Amino acid sequence: MRLQLMTWQEVETYLKRSTGIIMPIGSAEQHGPTGFIGTDALCPEIVADKLAEEVDAIVAPTISVGMAQHHLGFPGSITLRPSTLISVIGDMVTSLARHGFDRFYFVNGHGGNIATVKAAFDEIYSESSLGTARHNRAGLRCVLRNWFQCPSVNEIEATEFGDANGSHATAGEVSLTYFGYPEDGERISSAAKLSPEIAPEGSFYDCEDYRRRFPDGRIGSDPTLATAEIGERLRAAAVKDLAADYKKFLEAE
Ligand code: NI
Repeated sequence: MRLQLMTWQEVETYLKRSTGIIMPIGSAEQHGPTGFIGTDALCPEIVADKLAEEVDAIVAPTISVGMAQHHLGFPGSITLRPSTLISVIGDMVTSLARHGFDRFYFVNGHGGNIATVKAAFDEIYSESSLGTARHNRAGLRCVLRNWFQCPSVNEIEATEFGDANGSHATAGEVSLTYFGYPEDGERISSAAKLSPEIAPEGSFYDCEDYRRRFPDGRIGSDPTLATAEIGERLRAAAVKDLAADYKKFLEAE
């Protein structure tokens, strides 16, 4: 269940049976001509809602803006500096820790967040290691799982899209959002004809450099292959892998 749809008494009751919480985190950045700007936040949210049902967990409010400086060459993209995102994560975790949550399961939708999220975890651990943590709180544990790297997800993508899945505005992530938001998916996919069909691969520096190398925003992908039906299967695959992993995370010594 979503934290935002609960009462404080319900949260208090939940804490008697579990101290785990699912933390969806994503980004607000262009996803090519056929993908939503919210793709990277919508995907972990779609997965997290179903995952929470499977494992009886609470889903925290999605951190839906991430570290996306390289996408700022495209209208609508928003970034937090790494230092800002580290503060956001630290304050959210510390708020929830005050109430007794101590197992934080981040489900991430954006590769560009990974380094910063890991740095945020080290900032959190540094507080207890250096003896500066408040409230005599228990040892906190945070893990980061990228839904798009779940083995069962990658199997489906390999079968359905092969090399055309790509690495940004992937056919897989676009499929998952079309499943979650079918009417809007219909709207943005209907007029799509992309050239070249499969976008170039490569690396980049800042946002000017990114737009010069990847003029329509995609990297390595042909997201016109995306369908809501495949998206539904991708959600089931991600939930299967993450449910097993979440249970292990809570049970670990
Ligand atoms: Ni993405």
